[in-house]
Amino acid sequence: MATSASVTSSQTPVVIVGAGPAGLLLSQLLDLEEVDSVLLEARSREYVLNRIRAGVLESSTVELLQAAGVGDRLRSEGMEHRGIYLQWPEERHHLDFVDLVGRSVWIYGQTEVTKDLMRARETAGQEAYYDVSEVSLHDLEGDRPTVRFVDSDGVAREITARAIAGCDGYHGPSRPAIPDRVQQIWEHGYPYSWLGILADVAPSTDELIYAWHPDGFALHSMRSESVSRLYVQVDADDDIANWSDDRIWDALATRLGDGQGGWRLTAGPVLEKGILPMRSFVATPMRHGRLFLAGDAAHIVPPTGAKGLNLAAADVALLARALVGWLRDGRTDLVDTYSDTALRRVWRCTHFSWWMTNMLHRHGDDFDAQLQLAQLRWVVRSDAAAAGLAENYAGLPIGY
Ligand code: FAD
Ligand code: DHB
Repeated sequence: MATSASVTSSQTPVVIVGAGPAGLLLSQLLDLEEVDSVLLEARSREYVLNRIRAGVLESSTVELLQAAGVGDRLRSEGMEHRGIYLQWPEERHHLDFVDLVGRSVWIYGQTEVTKDLMRARETAGQEAYYDVSEVSLHDLEGDRPTVRFVDSDGVAREITARAIAGCDGYHGPSRPAIPDRVQQIWEHGYPYSWLGILADVAPSTDELIYAWHPDGFALHSMRSESVSRLYVQVDADDDIANWSDDRIWDALATRLGDGQGGWRLTAGPVLEKGILPMRSFVATPMRHGRLFLAGDAAHIVPPTGAKGLNLAAADVALLARALVGWLRDGRTDLVDTYSDTALRRVWRCTHFSWWMTNMLHRHGDDFDAQLQLAQLRWVVRSDAAAAGLAENYAGLPIGY
């Protein structure tokens, strides 16, 4: 390590910007193939570990985490689900993904995935800087790209790498480092949001319930045998201050059909609540020179299809293979095709998330509502339609 005037410089094969699921999993997959990396994260370890986010893992994500050596706790503490329920007033139907497409899904919070990956990285002894600031990316078009930042002790650092992985989410500096002239942005907004709660109460259902209702969408999910996660559709400009715990539980009871057919929703203490904006967003290409984008840095989906975390995992499975092929084995074909290959799945999941969102959220007029109900009835009555939903929800193979 050489020190110039006031910047401490070092080198590594790969700098990974962002310690969300994409960055942490990439560092683990590279380490298993003996490719070193340095991980930079703007937040503290505690902050990253305490973020409540996604909860559903596709079967291919589960297989990937297992292959990455971080699947044991997931297999013992996660909950395997055969499918989901689709519901609208007076009707609830189970879609059995195992029967339909031979694949299940697992309920295991992103918080737990993050914990397992952070532990693995610490065990591997790979370098990580948390609480960094002023992160900037340079010389992406040359063969010695550099990341500059200030560490948690206020030391200005510069790391030169062979490749930079931009895993820093929607708000990070990696995507904006790509010049406008080579980047195309594809965006779609939705006039509603999700209000989500984490509740200290046993789930009232064995598998997730996605409910269409004239008042708006509701979802009953869970994190464990004793903790539930539930969501209701609210207006995009709504304020969490408008939603007391009682109002949220009342809305959930109505939209989820409390009392119908003897089913009851059990309310409980709300541990956390917040409003999540919804958008579809894709930035192309996912590579510029020596910078490779993965996860939310390159694309955002609305949460209805439970795809955000799974898509981030699928990107880094491809990226790890491509970087190992190049940096360790000297082949460039996989880095050259990374963006096109990743984007095939990204657009598939972007379409599926948009389709699920449009089918289940109340918007438009009464005519639109009738079309939504016609579509829901078709999905539960046609094996072909049900298998289409199942194939997408339970997950396409890596490299689709
Ligand atoms: P992130 O998890 O966003 O990680 C990016 C990391 O980069 C963060 O740790 C961030 O702090 C760091 N970073 C940012 N700027 C810098 C910088 N300058 N320098 C260094 N590091 C930086 N998906 C679902 O499927 N279901 C859900 O229920 C769901 N709920 C969500 C709720 C919320 C509030 C949010 C924001 C997302 C949710 N998602 C959900 C989406 C899912 O969590 C993401 O798709 C997933 O986290 C993507 O992982 P990632 O690693 O690409 O990005
Ligand atoms: C959860 C989130 C989702 O977006 C979804 O579709 C299903 C479950 C969850 O947080 O548990």
